[in-house]
Amino acid sequence: MKKARAWRLGMKDFLVMPGPRQRPQLRRPVWIILLVSFVSIFLIGVYVYPASSSASCFLFSSKGCRAFRRPPLLPSRPLTDDEIASEVVIKEILKSHPVQTKTPKIAFMFLTPGSLPFEKLWEKFFHGHEDRFTVYVHASRERPGHVSRYFIGRDIHSEKVGWGKFNMVEAEKRLLANALIDPANQHFVLLSDSCVPVHNFEYVYNYLMFTNVSFIDCFVDPGPHGNGRYSEHMMPEVNKRDFRKGSQWFSLKRQHAIIIMADSLYHTKFKLYCKPNMDGRNCYSDEHYLPTFFLMKDPEGIANWSVTYVDWSEGKWHPRAYRAQDITYDLLKNITSIDESVHVTSDAAKITVTKPCIWNGMKRPCYLFARKFYPETLNKLIHLFSNYTTV
Ligand SMILES: *[C@@H]1O[C@H](CO)[C@@H](O)[C@H](O)[C@H]1NC(C)=O
Ligand SMILES: *[C@@H]1O[C@H](CO)[C@@H](O)[C@H](O)[C@H]1NC(C)=O
Ligand SMILES: *[C@@H]1O[C@H](CO)[C@@H](O)[C@H](O)[C@H]1NC(C)=O
Ligand SMILES: *[C@@H]1O[C@H](CO)[C@@H](O)[C@H](O)[C@H]1NC(C)=O
Repeated sequence: MKKARAWRLGMKDFLVMPGPRQRPQLRRPVWIILLVSFVSIFLIGVYVYPASSSASCFLFSSKGCRAFRRPPLLPSRPLTDDEIASEVVIKEILKSHPVQTKTPKIAFMFLTPGSLPFEKLWEKFFHGHEDRFTVYVHASRERPGHVSRYFIGRDIHSEKVGWGKFNMVEAEKRLLANALIDPANQHFVLLSDSCVPVHNFEYVYNYLMFTNVSFIDCFVDPGPHGNGRYSEHMMPEVNKRDFRKGSQWFSLKRQHAIIIMADSLYHTKFKLYCKPNMDGRNCYSDEHYLPTFFLMKDPEGIANWSVTYVDWSEGKWHPRAYRAQDITYDLLKNITSIDESVHVTSDAAKITVTKPCIWNGMKRPCYLFARKFYPETLNKLIHLFSNYTTV
């Protein structure tokens, strides 16, 4: 992993502070003359421009100077008790430094209706890295039959999940809560049954661990599938101006996972007012709660794209799903080489916004995983895995 190493070296370079600069020794008389001249010029300034001078205001900071100061940026309304409490808790968590564990791990959290068709592929991906990952499976419809040793015994208590319902968000939080129990887990990736890895473990580990952002997809969609889903009932805590959309397939740093555990205020707003058939419209919290919440609370802390690729270019209600005949070395190499994220608005204008994927200041490929793949693609993917994941 040349690039991650380069970054770490870069950091090290950055941390080497230059030694204290040598000040030229001024001889005493010169020093005194300079000081006296400065004080004189200053006093003349104050005399010529009495109290009205904002320069003297700054220097004296007297009471009469209030008029010259810019008013502090106050929120346009007083915050509620719950908002103040939420703000304090989130700020405190963001300030805390991550606890260093000996071998930090990545939690791979699978949200699936039942069995996972790609366990054998994931096994190939995980093999040889046993001390650096944990697996959690939330199977919402039926108990999965596992075929890989990395998945056996990794099911968590699960509840039913309906497509687009709020219980999707609750299942995500259930996975996060279970994965947070292990203090070694430092990064948390949400995956579906139709997701596959498009890079090797080493690459994925370094990509997620050696950065300080969460990969949460987040963009402004003024169209019906974006802001059109917003309900005024979310006021005053959630303003339409802050409403965002993004794919549900996130990866989170530990700090952000804990912030989600701590949030009940925004969670409740979305649970009550962003759901199917709300005010005659359909709102899907799994596509809006986290993008909106983090845009409001830690915009610099999220990458604004998801590390899970999906192809929406066909413009249908569901993304493209790959069949066995689609699986070629070229297709997978194409996915791994994409280094710009694309968002298209859902209004008539269909505005496309393309942004480079910037990782620690460098442009890099955006995606570590991809969906959606039919189970029939398994053998071809296993066959090609070592090839397409070779950098
Ligand atoms: C992440 O680290 C970079 C430097 O590597 C720094 O500029 C940036 O502010 C950090 N972001 C957060 C959210 O801590
Ligand atoms: C993500 O988007 C928000 C809002 O557009 C922006 O403030 C933030 O800087 C972006 N994050 C990064 C890491 O660029
Ligand atoms: C891969 O990308 C190239 C260049 O964008 C394109 O011409 C080709 O059709 C793609 N191949 C597959 C299999 O998607
Ligand atoms: C893997 O890549 C090499 C070199 O590009 C190629 O010769 C070989 O046929 C590939 N193997 C498979 C299974 O596609």
